[in-house]
Amino acid sequence: MRVLLTGGTGYIGSHTAVALIDAGHQVTLLDNFANSKPTVLDRLSEITGVTMDFFEADVTDREAIDSVLAHRAFDAAIHFAAPKAVGESIARPLHYFNNGVGGTVTLLQAMDRRGIRNVVYSSSATVYGMSDELPFREDAPTEVINPYGRTKLMCEEILRDLRQSDERWNSIALRYFNPVGAHPSGLIGEDPQGVPANLMPFVAQVAVGRLPVLRIFGDDYPTPDGTGVRDYIHVMDLAEGHVAAVEHLATEPGHDVINLGTGNGISVLELVEAFERVAGVPIPTEVVGRRRGDGPASWADATKAGDVLGWTARRSLDEMVADAWRWQSQNPNGYPD
Ligand code: UD1
Repeated sequence: MRVLLTGGTGYIGSHTAVALIDAGHQVTLLDNFANSKPTVLDRLSEITGVTMDFFEADVTDREAIDSVLAHRAFDAAIHFAAPKAVGESIARPLHYFNNGVGGTVTLLQAMDRRGIRNVVYSSSATVYGMSDELPFREDAPTEVINPYGRTKLMCEEILRDLRQSDERWNSIALRYFNPVGAHPSGLIGEDPQGVPANLMPFVAQVAVGRLPVLRIFGDDYPTPDGTGVRDYIHVMDLAEGHVAAVEHLATEPGHDVINLGTGNGISVLELVEAFERVAGVPIPTEVVGRRRGDGPASWADATKAGDVLGWTARRSLDEMVADAWRWQSQNPNGYPD
């Protein structure tokens, strides 16, 4: 298949590009480098042996998207491009609605004009909100707790409505749990701007000496060791989930919503312990108060992805940590400019 990846140089987009090429597909990447660097493209070529077909464009730019679609034929798009920081979404909601929702509508309109009506959408387990009915199943009630979460839920609903209005549209919204790790080459990985907000890149930066200490946000949760529990999933498993989804769209029409997680909950302390053991470096920690907006626990019911897509996560926590560490130790300051 010929697949357009918006946000193709980002963390999940870049790993999905590798997985698609490994599976024999052709990819075109599109990105505005708002949260990624051009050197990702060289790294992708090094891993795959394929020169990346790339367009620098913003998904909110109608003319630019039209031009990309006029220059290439696509069977499907995987739409990653969107900002994704919870705190920033509360500070700048209009930026999130313009890029997250407006960008999606602009892309879908451009695809519609070209008759490309297969799309995989990058959603998030954040749409389950703070519910304690675990594990999260796709038919659980959704709850919006911040503008970022609203952009994800709104785009899922747009895709559902689109299918109801026009049966030529096929879509799968993938609800990611907590993607971590990196490609085993250590050439691509997660490269957050500034101080990482998420646990694994923070731990990796403490391990490499860029940050002094991990602050653990609360050890008084109703969880086995008191720290927050999440469903960490290896980014290459997640990437392969996208391959399964885009291939599924080609043969099975419709709209669906599918979790991508392992189905296992891991606590902050368990992740830190695995990192220290696998990387062989101490991670200094300090327990501080809970972070606003955090729930105690989140993990997926991952059965639907197995039933519908024939996909299950297969990489262990130790592999997630080993690959995150390889990436971080080989690239202590992330991608070069
Ligand atoms: C966060 C976002 C979520 C988003 C997801 C993926 C919030 C409140 N939620 O989820 O909407 O979809 O990232 O980008 O921002 N932790 C620490 N110290 C740290 C960082 C994290 O103890 O320095 C703990 C957290 O309290 C949590 C766990 O580690 O228990 C995982 O945190 P994180 O990686 O930020 O992911 P989520 O909170 O699940």
